[in-house]
Amino acid sequence: MIKDLWYKNAVFYCLSVGTFMDANADGIGDFQGLMRRLDYLHGLGVTAIWLMPFQKSPGKDDGYDICDYYAVNPAFGSLGDFVEFTHGAAQRGIRVIIDLVVNHTSIEHPWFQEARRDPNSKYRDWYIWSKKRPPHAEEGMVFPGVQKATWSRDPVAKQWYFHRFYKFQPDLNTSHPDVQAEILKIMGFWIQLGVSGFRMDAVPFVIGTKGADVRKPREQYDMLRSLREFLQWRVGDSIILAEANVLPRTDMQYFGDDGDRMHMMFNFQVNQNLFYALAAADTRPLVKAMKKTEQRPASGQWGIFLRNHDELDLGRLTKKQRQRVFDAFGPNPEDQLYNRGIRRRLAPMLNGDRRRLELAYSLMFTLPGTPVLRYGDELAMGDDLSLPERTGCRTPMQWSTEPNGGFTKNGKPVVPVISDGPYGYPHVNAADQRRDPQSMLNWTERIIRMRKEVPEIGWGEFEILKTGDQAVLAIRYDWRNNSVLFLHNFAEEPREIEFSEGIKDRMGNLLVNLLSEEHSQADKNGRHRVCLEGYGYRWYRVGGLDYLLKRSKT
Ligand code: GLC
Ligand code: CA
Repeated sequence: MIKDLWYKNAVFYCLSVGTFMDANADGIGDFQGLMRRLDYLHGLGVTAIWLMPFQKSPGKDDGYDICDYYAVNPAFGSLGDFVEFTHGAAQRGIRVIIDLVVNHTSIEHPWFQEARRDPNSKYRDWYIWSKKRPPHAEEGMVFPGVQKATWSRDPVAKQWYFHRFYKFQPDLNTSHPDVQAEILKIMGFWIQLGVSGFRMDAVPFVIGTKGADVRKPREQYDMLRSLREFLQWRVGDSIILAEANVLPRTDMQYFGDDGDRMHMMFNFQVNQNLFYALAAADTRPLVKAMKKTEQRPASGQWGIFLRNHDELDLGRLTKKQRQRVFDAFGPNPEDQLYNRGIRRRLAPMLNGDRRRLELAYSLMFTLPGTPVLRYGDELAMGDDLSLPERTGCRTPMQWSTEPNGGFTKNGKPVVPVISDGPYGYPHVNAADQRRDPQSMLNWTERIIRMRKEVPEIGWGEFEILKTGDQAVLAIRYDWRNNSVLFLHNFAEEPREIEFSEGIKDRMGNLLVNLLSEEHSQADKNGRHRVCLEGYGYRWYRVGGLDYLLKRSKT
C-alpha cells in the first residue's frame, strides 16, 4: 500500500469559524481570527482541520443551509480571507477539509427561488415536487419532535416539495445530471482554493432516490465513484470523509470493494457502542461493533470520534442499551434530543471526571481508524443547555480569563460564551491550561504527539485479546513487523487482568509502556499480569523501543 495516504495517520480537528475567534469584534468568529489561532492548532499537533460550513447562508441550521456555494458568508470574511487561511494552514503542514452540503440548499437559494416561481425554469427539476400531498409526508424526519414533515406546500409554486431535513432545506434532485455536474463544479471550486477534500454531509440521502412515489429510497452507490474519480483527477491526494450513519453490512458499498468510493467514513457503529461501554462497563457490544466494521479496503479509513457538533445519536443501540446510556449521561429531558440522542458535550456527560475523560480520549486515539477531535474538547469544555437544540454544544472557544473568554472584544457574542458554573471560561480556558503541565490541554497535546508516532493504529490490523474481564478492552495492532497493545478499564474499580500478547513465533515478552515507567514483563508462560486502576489505560509497545530499527519496509 502506498504510504502517501496521509489520512491513515492523521489527527483531525473539527471547528466552525463562527465560534473560534472573532478578529473584527462583531461578535462572530471569522477567518482572520481563525488564522491567528493556527499556531495554537499547530502546537496542539493536529494535522487536519475539518471546517464546518462557512458559505453564504441564512444560518438557520448553522450554515447547513447554503444559499451560495461559491461565496463565503460575509460575516466570516471574503474568499480572499479563505485562501489566506488555507495557505496559512498549508504552511504549517495542516490540511483543511470542508463540509460539502449538497443534499439540500437553503430555501433562499436563487435556484429554489427561481424553481418555485417559474415551472419552466431549468431549476424546477433541480428540486423534488409533487402536485398533491404525498401520503407519507409525515414520515422519515431527521429531526423528530422539531421537524413536522418531510413534504411541505410551497405557496408560490402551489406544489409540495421534499425536504429530508428542516422545512427551509429543500432537497436537491441529486439524480439529475445537471445537479450532479453542479456538485462536481462546487468540489472543483474549493479544491482549487486549497482544501484537501470534503466531509460529505448526509451521504445516504444524497445518493438515495427521491420523489413522491418513493417509499423506501434506494441508494445509488455509483454516484460515489463519480465524485471520487472527479476529485482525484483534480488533486490526487484529496479525500472524501462520508457522514453516513448506516448499518455495517452496507459499509463496503460506501468504501467500494476496490476502495474506489469514499476514502473515509465516520464509524457511528463504534461510537454508539463505545458510549454504551462507558456507561455500562461492558465492552462486549463494542467489540462486536469493532469486528463488524473491521472489513474495509486497504485505502479506506474510519473516522473515530466521541462527540461531534450534533446530538450523540444512540439510534443504533437496543432500547435497553440506549436507556442505559441515557441514565448514565443524559437522564434529564433537557439533555436529550430527537428521541434518540444526547445533546451534551463530553466533559459534562462524564461529570468532568478527569479519569473518565482520559479513558474516553485514550480510546478515541487508539480505536481502529483516524481520530477526529472537536474544538474545545482539549480543554474539556462544557455545554449551555439553555440554548436551543444542538446549539448547546456549539458555544465559542474559551481562550482565556478575559471578557468573553478572549473569544471576542464585542460585548454580545452572537452565540454566548459559557461564563458561569464549573465550565465557565474563568475556570476552563486555554491560557490557564497551558501554564499547568497536568491540564487536559497538555495531556491532549502529549497524547497527540504519541499517537502520531504509533502509525500501527491507523495502518495495521487489529486483534482483540482475551482478558477474562468484560470491563477491560485489550487490543493489539500489527504493522510492518511491529506491534502495539492497549488496555482500557471501563470500570470504576481497579481490575487485575491476565493476558498474553497473542503473537506467535515472536519473542515479545516485554511490554514497554509509552506513557509512564510501568512496563510489563511476561511470566515464563508468556502471561502478563497488569493491575489497572479504575478507568485506567495503558499504551504499550511489544518488545522494546528498538521498534523503528525493526520496522519492515512493507
Ligand atoms: C448533517 C449535519 C447536521 C445538519 C444536517 C443537515 O447531519 O451533521 O448538523 O443539520 O446534516 O445538513
Ligand atoms: Ca467577526
